[in-house]
Amino acid sequence: MSLSFADNRGQAFRAPAPKPREMPLGPIGLIMALRQNPVETWTRAHFEKPILVGRRVLGEMAVVSEPAAIRRVLLDNVANYRKDDLQRRVLSPGLGNGLLTADGKQWRAQRRTVAPMFTPRNVLSFAPPMAEAARVAVERLQRRRPGQTVDVSADMARVTLEILERTIFTDGLGQGPEHFREAVSRYFDTAGRIDPLDLLGFPDFIPRIGRIKSRPTLRFFRDSVDAIIEKRRQSLADPDYKAPHDLLTLLLEATDPETGEGLDEEELRANIITFIGAGHETTANALTWSLYLLSQSPEWRARLESEADRELGAGGAETLAERLIETRAVIEEAMRLYPPAATLTREAIEPDMLAGRRIKKGMRVVVSPFVVHRHRLLWRDPDLFMPERFLGEAREKIDRFAYIPFGAGPRVCVGASFALQEAQIVLAHLMQAFRFEHVETHEIVPVQRVTLRPKNGMPMRIFARE
Ligand code: HEM
Repeated sequence: MSLSFADNRGQAFRAPAPKPREMPLGPIGLIMALRQNPVETWTRAHFEKPILVGRRVLGEMAVVSEPAAIRRVLLDNVANYRKDDLQRRVLSPGLGNGLLTADGKQWRAQRRTVAPMFTPRNVLSFAPPMAEAARVAVERLQRRRPGQTVDVSADMARVTLEILERTIFTDGLGQGPEHFREAVSRYFDTAGRIDPLDLLGFPDFIPRIGRIKSRPTLRFFRDSVDAIIEKRRQSLADPDYKAPHDLLTLLLEATDPETGEGLDEEELRANIITFIGAGHETTANALTWSLYLLSQSPEWRARLESEADRELGAGGAETLAERLIETRAVIEEAMRLYPPAATLTREAIEPDMLAGRRIKKGMRVVVSPFVVHRHRLLWRDPDLFMPERFLGEAREKIDRFAYIPFGAGPRVCVGASFALQEAQIVLAHLMQAFRFEHVETHEIVPVQRVTLRPKNGMPMRIFARE
């Protein structure tokens, strides 16, 4: 019998995170901290107040955590909130004007183009290749010595990239997943750091260190992606070639219903890089944090082991996502405590009111899943790992806008159900085969580099289950 919500609190694990500051940082401290690790800048007030509005080095900014106000920004008054300049400056050199960074008409056309890839039916059809990739990952780990320490974050990034190759990029990623994994990680680590010059609004022609360092990686992306497109174009030139139903086909065949025009080369390239970037590090982090949290909770580890033992052999892969209920609860709780996309930022086009405060035209509006998910007004024992929050009635009571790992509204993550399904399938296969132990000497610090990752990876000792 499972423990009830209240019974379990005494034993639940406190998920480590930087201690909120008592006072906000001064301008220099803030610039440094934003570059080093933005999650270290939050103050206690951010986790206690529905909204904080103030003038910082970034200009006027509102940090919004009240669910009704989040709903207004992301859904009800979404036309008033565009993706802000800072986010675009950080991401655009790599991701260009792809779906994640584009706005307005260009965004709508691209979203319409890729939507068929992520219909519920299509996502279900990806379950068997996801399960196959999970089995390959298990075999790879089985080659390790018992008790050997592995950086599971690298292994998780590898399996999620392989899943992209088996589902939405069916010609593969040319240079091999390992190169791509390293390149995406390097890109996020260099260009993905917020640059002081961007914070201060310096013009783009002034070089940024992170961007200079990321140039070779950008060249790698460009060459690889061009090779992927060229290969597919050559295949398409063969009249007998039957184009696969994958993302590249959709992007190449897309036409604007109004103009009849397709995506231009830049948009094509930007979207391929966007889907590789947005589509694997995020899920890999959700898996990595899940493995860590499970290593701290014998009860939940046992529950997931028995669910995996029971369900993996019990039916087809297509129904796994609906059967792996406790596995899903653990992943959702891991994404609550460590949301892979830790901050969403927007800019108000016109004045507005949010949570009783006036939002001026041009103000930066920040919705931080990291803050919202650990907010004192929204969650009971917010820092404790308690996956039972995501089961049954407790799950139904969670406000849609208090739990936003995938964002919400029209710009909600297009890959959300894809990501959840793959994380469930991979985690269940790992739990069936192995026990992962946290290396106690390795301090756990969540660090935000576009995605929220564990600082210096996640070394864990791996043992085959009896
Ligand atoms: C656990 C895994 C994932 C998390 C936590 C996540 C999170 C998010 C969030 C929060 C957004 C909204 C950003 C905003 O509103 O500013 C987003 C957008 C997006 N995500 Fe994901 N994502 C995940 C996996 C994926 C996967 C697997 C794919 C593709 C295969 C993907 C592709 C995208 C794209 C293309 C967008 C932009 C959508 C748009 O603006 O229309 N993501 N994601």
